[in-house]
Amino acid sequence: MHNPVTTAPSIESILARCPEIPSLPVAATRVVELTLNSDVGANEIAQVLGQDPALAARVLRLANSAFYGMNRQVATLKDAVVVLGLKTVRELAIVAGALPWLKKPVKGYALEPGALLAHSTSLAVGAQNIARMARLKIADQAYVAGLMADIGKLVMSQSIDDRLAEMVTLGLEAGMTFDEVERRVVGFDHSQIGESLTHSWSLPDPIVAAVRFHHAPQEATEEHQSIVDCVHVADYLAMVCGFGLGGDGLSYAFDEGALMRLGISADTIDSAVDEFVIAFEAQESIIKELSQA
Ligand SMILES: [Fe+2]
Repeated sequence: MHNPVTTAPSIESILARCPEIPSLPVAATRVVELTLNSDVGANEIAQVLGQDPALAARVLRLANSAFYGMNRQVATLKDAVVVLGLKTVRELAIVAGALPWLKKPVKGYALEPGALLAHSTSLAVGAQNIARMARLKIADQAYVAGLMADIGKLVMSQSIDDRLAEMVTLGLEAGMTFDEVERRVVGFDHSQIGESLTHSWSLPDPIVAAVRFHHAPQEATEEHQSIVDCVHVADYLAMVCGFGLGGDGLSYAFDEGALMRLGISADTIDSAVDEFVIAFEAQESIIKELSQA
């Protein structure tokens, strides 16, 4: 049995041990920073995105996908900014920038190539749909938050290394959830690493909060409660449907308080599962295709 960490490492030391720290492309980071300044013009955003043709192509494809239910197509990056607005283009740049990372295999969690991407897509679609069900005006931001929720696993994988089976056993024997086991064995859980990553990418606070508290929504601040609850419920749906599960499988706690706070009944969620699966499958094929581009 693995001994718990005696002296907790810092997140920095965990990141330092990681051979490849996930980062957003420079152009995506620049778009995030520029769009937080509302004085920026469509031309400037288009120019920045245009410096990274692969990223720009993914942003345009996403802009024209069913994601935003657009009734007109956008042909250029400038059109995308004018028609969709700065906030939406920022969200598209984050999604497009994160896809190449999310498609990677995550050995520590026994996730084959594409499994994290499938899981993340299901969280994105789930969080978006739950926000709509709760009549919240944060559906598209909830999509991005859901997509990013497990990004910390890419770094945690390195710390788990080949101890997954041992950690799963510890969880079962001690009656601990997998994030509790991560904290016991590694010193941090994947949501804390994800918070550190997304904060360093300057992502908007509600997204960082959703990444941080997606397994512990009761710990979120009131300001970010709704988006955190949407991602938490989406995570539950993804687990129930078995989308992109790794070795940690179903070993997470569900806080029914999240449903109550969102004003959604358990019956409503159960009856929405079929709809959720259809929405996920539609979105998965385009996200998968874009992640290869
Ligand atoms: Fe997670």
